[in-house]
Amino acid sequence: MDYTIRPMQDSDITQAIELDHEAYPSQWPHPTYASFKQELHNRLAHYIVASKKNETEPATGKQDAGSKSFWQRLLQLKHLFDHDRFFGEEMPPPSKEYILGVAGFWTMVDEIHITTIAVRNAYQQQGIGERLLISIIDMAAQLNARIVTLEVRVSNKQAQALYKKYGFQQAGMRPRYYSDNGEDALLMSTDTITSAFFQSHFQQLKQNHQQRWRELYINKI
Ligand SMILES: CC(C)(COP(=O)(O)OP(=O)(O)OC[C@H]1O[C@@H](n2cnc3c(N)ncnc32)[C@H](O)[C@@H]1OP(=O)(O)O)[C@@H](O)C(=O)NCCC(=O)NCCS
Repeated sequence: MDYTIRPMQDSDITQAIELDHEAYPSQWPHPTYASFKQELHNRLAHYIVASKKNETEPATGKQDAGSKSFWQRLLQLKHLFDHDRFFGEEMPPPSKEYILGVAGFWTMVDEIHITTIAVRNAYQQQGIGERLLISIIDMAAQLNARIVTLEVRVSNKQAQALYKKYGFQQAGMRPRYYSDNGEDALLMSTDTITSAFFQSHFQQLKQNHQQRWRELYINKI
């Protein structure tokens, strides 16, 4: 396997939108090509992708490789009529790599606020979400951030399990935060990421992850 974690590029946007629909099926609105592009070029925002080279469709996993969902077909059609294509800048050719996961964050003074971590359904529970979170925490330390924060649906127990594993704790509640179903969000935060306590826990988790999911470390950022 040839996996890479790397900064997201304009040519990844089409797949990132597809992935967003897959990972957050009930969310509305979804990002558009233009909104994603604006994010990528915002100096306060940072986006990374987990990709697999020489692959355009899932070879294995939970999802049937041959079957495309309704929205995937719709997105392909929509691409033909996309506003950006006709009234704005021409889209670059889509990436030749298969994008398995996307993560992004905003820098806000001494805080890194995660805006998304999402993995394609067929590739979940294979260490990729954790690999993306590790990269974000490493980047946060490089950017001299003090803490990492995020919002998560109260019902999203798998994501909460990932965050708790990395020392995130509930720091507050945002009532009716999600407009699709009025669900509350938990605001979660790390302790100071440069503290000796956080770093020793983090480095241990990172080492465990590298040993368990060796193939994800063939290429690094
Ligand atoms: C949350 C998400 C990013 C996790 O990614 P993933 O690649 O499936 O997760 P990993 O395989 O790296 O698992 C890492 C940890 O996450 C937790 N986890 C992942 N899937 C889980 C599940 N189904 N049930 C319980 N815990 C789970 C576990 O703590 C796991 O560690 P472990 O293997 O030591 O138990 C993924 O489920 C996803 O994309 N969900 C849809 C989008 C989403 O909800 N994003 C979060 C928005 S706040």
